[in-house]
Amino acid sequence: MNTIAEPETLPSDSLGVSAAQARSTELEELIRKDPGQFRVLTGDRPTGQLHLGHYFGTLHNRVRLQNLGVEMFVVIADYQVLTDRDVASNLTGYVEELVLDYLAIGVDPARSTIFTHSAVPALNQLLLPFLSLVSTAELSRNPTVKDEIAHSRQSSVSGLMFTYPAHQAADILFCKANLVPVGRDQLPHLELTRTIARRFNDRYGAGTAVFPQPDALLSNAPLLLGTDGTKMSKSRGNAITLAADADETARLIKGAKTDSERHITYDPATRPEVSSLLLLAALCQGRTPEQVAAEIGAEGAAALKRTVTEAVNEYLAPIRARRAEYAQDRAHLRQVLREGNERAVAVADVTLAEVRTAMNSHY
Ligand code: TRP
Repeated sequence: MNTIAEPETLPSDSLGVSAAQARSTELEELIRKDPGQFRVLTGDRPTGQLHLGHYFGTLHNRVRLQNLGVEMFVVIADYQVLTDRDVASNLTGYVEELVLDYLAIGVDPARSTIFTHSAVPALNQLLLPFLSLVSTAELSRNPTVKDEIAHSRQSSVSGLMFTYPAHQAADILFCKANLVPVGRDQLPHLELTRTIARRFNDRYGAGTAVFPQPDALLSNAPLLLGTDGTKMSKSRGNAITLAADADETARLIKGAKTDSERHITYDPATRPEVSSLLLLAALCQGRTPEQVAAEIGAEGAAALKRTVTEAVNEYLAPIRARRAEYAQDRAHLRQVLREGNERAVAVADVTLAEVRTAMNSHY
């Protein structure tokens, strides 16, 4: 349910993954040549602290794009929390945790706009015309929504569950973003966003495009498993968060599942748990998992875990230090959010005015 988390039950070809991968390679080239032609919109649901799966899946990529000179909007999707639960608990706390994580990894509020979508009325108003552009059949065959319904903790499915991908289109199109870094599970939402943009332009654009058709930028980071060998996820208690301290990290990795073969090798298909640990160390050290495996060899799982712990703690040390510093100043966090929301409101107001003019409803 997170941007990078790939629901395990989704067959990847049903999502158009290979086409999106090919396009992403082209896009990387264009970004390198001219970052100024891109505006990124990306975001997360405020349901807890971000973890290493998020970090190597998308967060790292966001900061890279920002630092290449791409303009970026980061939405904290607070309404979206309500898709699979009745009440969004601890919302203020989780929103602040996300802002802390963003600042700690290097999202720069002077260059990038961090905002909560509930604070931007004009963004939400786009939902109504957008919903008129899609059929209920299109909404209900979205594979990611289906998967989320299957895993939902609610006994009934709310209307928001079916319509949130159209709301996500509003998150993306209110600022006319043309690039959305996502994991595979978000590809159906991107496809719907493109459909909405195209249909809006066709129906109301009178020959000009009000909205761009945004591209997905798939990150090529392989999937990290949690310490129990299943998908790393906030709700499964198997995640190493950015905020965790060095001791907690050591404890989590010490308890991680491995296998009974002593000699350490990188083989994701037959040794998924060991391979995911190798991958994690490799990502932190800028090496290949094969190199890490070769170094450990016959020393076994205990040595592997020591290597991973050191690699993670060393990599995260500066991020954690910055996070702790920002955590001291809640007033600053709220200020970052207030300013981000103000900027988002200004942008959304302009877009909504254009939409109303195009729809002949500007009175
Ligand atoms: N649906 C995304 C998730 O579950 C969060 C999100 C909301 C998002 N709006 C977005 C992601 C717009 C990318 C673009 O994590």
